[in-house]
Amino acid sequence: MCNNSLAEEKFKELDAFIDGLEEDEGNLIVILHKAQNLFGYLPREVQLHVSRKLKLSAAKVNGVVTFYSYFTEEPKGQHVISVCMGTACFVRGASDILSSLQEKLGIKCGETTKDGKFTIDSLRCVGACGLAPVVIADGRVHGRVEIDDLDKILVELESGVR
Ligand code: FES
Repeated sequence: MCNNSLAEEKFKELDAFIDGLEEDEGNLIVILHKAQNLFGYLPREVQLHVSRKLKLSAAKVNGVVTFYSYFTEEPKGQHVISVCMGTACFVRGASDILSSLQEKLGIKCGETTKDGKFTIDSLRCVGACGLAPVVIADGRVHGRVEIDDLDKILVELESGVR
């Protein structure tokens, strides 16, 4: 990550957030959420910063980051498309949706296109099983998605139409 003034500002904001918390063991997750919101992902440099600030081992912080699928150590693209792979969605064809999306964008789940535009990831049940299979594109829930709907979703994301 570049050590530019923007990053410095984000580290300052993160420090202020940490300083404003009461000491509590459960804070690590709250702090990592904040850090990911600020930086977009949790690169090594950010994890080390958090570990030093909280006086925790780097291994402990990295253990939490890698345990929760919400946290990511890789930068995400401008648009994130998540395919729900929970049971109801899986039964209704989510893996075909995911395969087709991977083919269209030329990347695997968890990866970002070279131009930085799209990231594909998968989710566990998002609580909308009645709409299975579910795709969440930049936070918008698309239900009963069919493979033929994917192009439209991608075009909408690129054009900013929601
Ligand atoms: S399994 Fe996909 S919303 Fe529940």
